[in-house]
Amino acid sequence: MTRDESDRGGLRPAASPLTVGGRTLSNRLVVSAHGLATVTHGVPDAQDAVYWRRLGSGGAGLIVAGGTQVSPESMPRNRILTEAYDERAAPGLAARAAAMRSGGALAGIQLGHLGRETLGAGTFLPFVAPGPVTGPREPAPARPLATDEIARIAEDFRLSTRRCAETGFDVVEIHAAHGYLLAQFLSRAANTRTDRYGGGPANRARALAEVVRAVREGAGDDVVVGVRVSVEGDGPAHLRLEELAELLPHVQDSAPFDYLNLTWGDRGRYVPDMATDRPPLLGRTRELRAGLGVPLLLCAAFRRPADIAEALTSGAADLVGSARAHIADPDFAAKVLGGRAAEIRPCVACLQDCRSYEPTGLCAVNPELAPAGEPRKPARPWRPAGHRPAGPRIVVVGAGPAGLECAVTAAARPGAEVTLLERAPRIGGQLVAAARAPHPAGGRTCSTTTGTGSTRSTSTCGSVSRSPTPTSTAPTRSSARPGPGRSRRRCRAR
Ligand SMILES: Cc1cc2nc3c(=O)[nH]c(=O)nc-3n(C[C@H](O)[C@H](O)[C@H](O)COP(=O)(O)O)c2cc1C
Ligand code: SF4
Repeated sequence: MTRDESDRGGLRPAASPLTVGGRTLSNRLVVSAHGLATVTHGVPDAQDAVYWRRLGSGGAGLIVAGGTQVSPESMPRNRILTEAYDERAAPGLAARAAAMRSGGALAGIQLGHLGRETLGAGTFLPFVAPGPVTGPREPAPARPLATDEIARIAEDFRLSTRRCAETGFDVVEIHAAHGYLLAQFLSRAANTRTDRYGGGPANRARALAEVVRAVREGAGDDVVVGVRVSVEGDGPAHLRLEELAELLPHVQDSAPFDYLNLTWGDRGRYVPDMATDRPPLLGRTRELRAGLGVPLLLCAAFRRPADIAEALTSGAADLVGSARAHIADPDFAAKVLGGRAAEIRPCVACLQDCRSYEPTGLCAVNPELAPAGEPRKPARPWRPAGHRPAGPRIVVVGAGPAGLECAVTAAARPGAEVTLLERAPRIGGQLVAAARAPHPAGGRTCSTTTGTGSTRSTSTCGSVSRSPTPTSTAPTRSSARPGPGRSRRRCRAR
């Protein structure tokens, strides 16, 4: 993340309010649906509101909580998703909505049903789908839904929406993305039905349209209703952008919704790793947006302010959503809007802590996120047995991600003098190797700069440009305090 990006401009549109379905977002930045499993037996716990309050103070216009289910057969056995269908979740939902709104954002919640995507024998009840086709991650075929059961699922959406409206949410988003149940209905490959819910686009769109109608009924007049769909890829079994453009009018015509959230990927790939260095849908959505008639919220891999600016100024989107950028730095929105891009602690798309849920979602670069009862992520420097630090002089050996983080953290101690030693000609450690993995797009997520003047070397997670003379292959000795000839890490830790 370079200072140039904050100065590049184009971000003024991001700061302008937008009225969606009668409610006004204070700006165009959205925290897209996610959850960190701060849920016990289907009920949001005390840590849940702490997390959403912190995000609520981060400057986004709308925050959407994910991982919320409408039906018991959609619940994994570990019950770490919110069970909106159960009245016991109501107090936790109310605390969550209040926490989100505490900083001025609209509070949103996404309601979903996993259908066949249950990860092995992960449910107590038989899992269901439009047809008996196995999914990419579940080897067993689902039980096909009977025709009259689809009305029951729409009713589940209505009842959960009612609970969310009563507990203070401003926005309810319907999850029809990522290959889950409603996306399975939209899909040619997954939907093999021969009744009125299968076949051509109008029939495949019918289940979603009925759910939108039910959600609208449950929401009442004051709650915004959105729909999230995803471009699954360009393979023969994937739901493609052109197909979505054909399917969505069938939904809108019979069941209007207030905004469309368009994102990328199916069950196994919807949180792109560090090989995705550019938002995959940027530059592909102008036509869809022009024909929609409602605001388009565009998501997936928006980490850099320049990409956000491009989406909003090129006509690609009305709103831009990110999940991990806000997990890594809860003040992401405020920093983008305030032109403080250089201060952002960037998500490095490592997909480690935020997706592990052990015991809750954490983050490799955000130590503020901690398991319940801990003020910060538990971590301490390793010291050999019997070692007693002699004073504030600290040597960190190895300038990989851990060494860099260690050096930056140690340098924050009053009076500490930190020396960072690296054998390789450039810093970054295994990230440099990982970024060399073959991928057409390469892997650029964070930038590091080593040296000064003629030996200056900029590395964007391994994509290294060097000018004009090559860096030495001799061991690099640099201080964590930036200075002449020393190493400066731009992915700042806090
Ligand atoms: C921890 C985590 C949980 C997520 N849970 C959901 C979810 O419940 N529903 C959903 O639609 N997307 C979910 N997502 C996907 C994000 O909303 C987003 O589409 C995806 O991470 C790509 O965007 P990003 O690059 O900004 O993170 C989740 C992502 C993460 C990292
Ligand atoms: S754990 Fe990794 S991928 Fe997840 S938010 Fe943190 S830096 Fe990003």
